Amino acid sequence: MEDLLSKIVSLCKRRGFIFPSSEIYGGFESCYDFGPLGVELKNNIKKAWWKEMVQLRQNIVGLDSAILMSPKVWQASGHLTAGFADQLVECKKCHKRFRKDYLKENKCPDCGGELTKERKFNLMMRTFVGPVEEKSAITYLRAETCQGIYMNYENAKNSMRLKIPFGIAQIGKAFRNEITPRYFIFKTREFEQMEMQWFCVPPARKAAQTNANSDAGLRRENWTPDQWFDYWKEQRIKWYLNLGIKKENLRFKETSKSDLPHYAKKAGDIQYKFPWGWGEIEGIHNRGDWDLSNHSKFSGIDLSYFDEETKRKFMPHIIETSAGVDRSCLVFLCEAYQEVKGGRTKTTKAVKDKEVVLKLDKRLAPIKVAVLPLVKNKPELVKKAKQVYEMLKPYFMCQYDELGSIGRRYRRQDEIGTFYALTIDFESLRQEDLTIRDRDTMKQKRIKIKDLINTLKESLEI
Ligand code: GAP
Repeated sequence: MEDLLSKIVSLCKRRGFIFPSSEIYGGFESCYDFGPLGVELKNNIKKAWWKEMVQLRQNIVGLDSAILMSPKVWQASGHLTAGFADQLVECKKCHKRFRKDYLKENKCPDCGGELTKERKFNLMMRTFVGPVEEKSAITYLRAETCQGIYMNYENAKNSMRLKIPFGIAQIGKAFRNEITPRYFIFKTREFEQMEMQWFCVPPARKAAQTNANSDAGLRRENWTPDQWFDYWKEQRIKWYLNLGIKKENLRFKETSKSDLPHYAKKAGDIQYKFPWGWGEIEGIHNRGDWDLSNHSKFSGIDLSYFDEETKRKFMPHIIETSAGVDRSCLVFLCEAYQEVKGGRTKTTKAVKDKEVVLKLDKRLAPIKVAVLPLVKNKPELVKKAKQVYEMLKPYFMCQYDELGSIGRRYRRQDEIGTFYALTIDFESLRQEDLTIRDRDTMKQKRIKIKDLINTLKESLEI
């Protein structure tokens, strides 16, 4: 199974999904760049998340806050203290740091030097703002996007006239000085998150207000944070299943009390069965009133909520869904990658070792439609194919390809997960039609060119 990861890394490099960062300088530790197809996949994942979490939900609004914020944000959130740190040992000679539980011997694996006692090392990435590099100019690259949401909780609530329960969603970069980055894009120092913060009534309020099975108790407005936790856990698991992840490759693991992040009352991970074993792809957290209470305390601004209906004031509790974009990319790539020994197509005599098909969901496929003239040395076919490509490209991400035999071109498209391949042949010139080939079944049928846009829109759900 570990082998699958190296195959995916190789496919990503070869076919333009993901490249090592600063490659001409020998790469830069645990940093990766998304190439022409990778950026399409990533954007499609973000689009699917945004549709699910913002567009289709009346009570969730979007946000795009700045990466740089006042350093006070990180004091209040608890990220500058021991809570957001890795327990590490440091080599007294070369000053490299290691997780003790990863070491076989009690000395530096690089230079054999003596190690310090275990200490906590903070994961925040420091930087300076302004012209002078002094203590007062220090700030941090955000370690989680949700702090930007808390900073805008009042602004979003007031400007959009939101009533609890409601959510604020955001997608953006986060940075952590991870000491043990690993597994390609699974754990890196720069990554992207898709986070939604759900503001709801605190549990005590519910108990006071909704004794027994009163009508109010059954209204969602009064659901407790624990009820919302279960609701969001289910919703998020469904999202992955709906985009093609098999049930047996997903699980939910509740975090034990001793492993809870510093801000959480209760937490759990949605995990995927990666080639090296189970790994977290999304955290569901009950953050209680940790964030809003601390920001109220540190800023001196009261962030509590006034309920017009009951005339009561309370500090909202927060349920968070926090997914990684890069990890989701890896999940969808692992799930979609299929090798067919000997090849799927039997039309040519050439013996093939294997064929690769990337069976990505149609919403995630970087290229939706490939347009292929049957041969490239017939100008009338090339002309017609280019006309079809020009006609489709305002609606769908398309690729025009005329290089190599038609079989080879189909395989090239299968390898990058292109959903449909359209071939313009001699009949197309007489009948104004073409063949449409389905990536997964490889079945082909003829379709009139005038019907193409509507047919594709319908079947690709665009
Ligand atoms: N706001 C809560 C929070 O950030 P987290 O469990 O630390 O929670 C949430 O992170 C998600 O962010 C993870 O499930 C993962 O998908 C992604 N993530 C966290 N650290 C990462 C890293 N070093 N590299 C890539 N993705 C990471």
